[in-house]
Amino acid sequence: MTKKKIIVFTGAGISAESGIKTFRDSGGLWEEYKVEDVATPEAWENDPAMVLSFYNKRRKQVMEAQPNTAHHALVELEKKFDVHIITQNIDDLHERAGSKKVMHLHGEIIKSRSSVDPDLTYMIKGWEINIGEKCVKGSQLRPHIVWFGESVPQMEDAGNLAAKADIFIIVGTSLNVYPAAGLVDFVPHNTPKYLIDPQAVSKDYISNITVKKEKAGIGVPELVKKLLI
Ligand code: OAD
Repeated sequence: MTKKKIIVFTGAGISAESGIKTFRDSGGLWEEYKVEDVATPEAWENDPAMVLSFYNKRRKQVMEAQPNTAHHALVELEKKFDVHIITQNIDDLHERAGSKKVMHLHGEIIKSRSSVDPDLTYMIKGWEINIGEKCVKGSQLRPHIVWFGESVPQMEDAGNLAAKADIFIIVGTSLNVYPAAGLVDFVPHNTPKYLIDPQAVSKDYISNITVKKEKAGIGVPELVKKLLI
């Protein structure tokens, strides 16, 4: 029997209880830094050292963090369902928890990439990329991150997956950043949808949705338990 497909769409909130800051909550990263100074192609052009230093700090923090109960609970779902995680997060906590199918819409902090060839990526040894480190084509290595103003190469694949969802779960995202936030529009109208977020505001525009106003560490294991019965 083919397993039902569960698509889980995650944002910064799922990693908050692992100690990784979100972006738009109070105390979030975008209060401390200006997006345009660190997360745009223009920032890279103007001050690559500053951009590398910003992501080096993020990478160190991710490497020191551990997956939390929410990441682990999603792995349990694989016992009964064909689970695909589509994450906006650049951390690797889903993979370290053991999730098998993870798509990173906004890139991966543990990888570097060529600044002339986006298909040329490398695993970073240690936690830093430094000025002077180059790809095989001789260009400076940059973080493997999708910056504001850049396209999201995997959006089409993500949309095709979302269109096949039997169950769609959203965890810890403010649904502010497009095109990623538009993923919900690909999910069939009748597909049951769940949203877990302590700040869950009205999501009336999403059909057939159950909102759980909880932190991921509580809400995700509860939902997983229910779905596994
Ligand atoms: P945001 O910082 O915009 O939103 C975080 C969400 O997580 C909010 O809705 C919070 O209420 C929720 N949250 C906080 N703590 C939580 C917890 N313990 N459990 C569950 N939810 C919690 O982060 P994203 O929506 O992921 O892009 O941001 C989207 C994109 O904007 C990011 O991928 C990043 C950023 O700029 C790039 O860098 C390209």
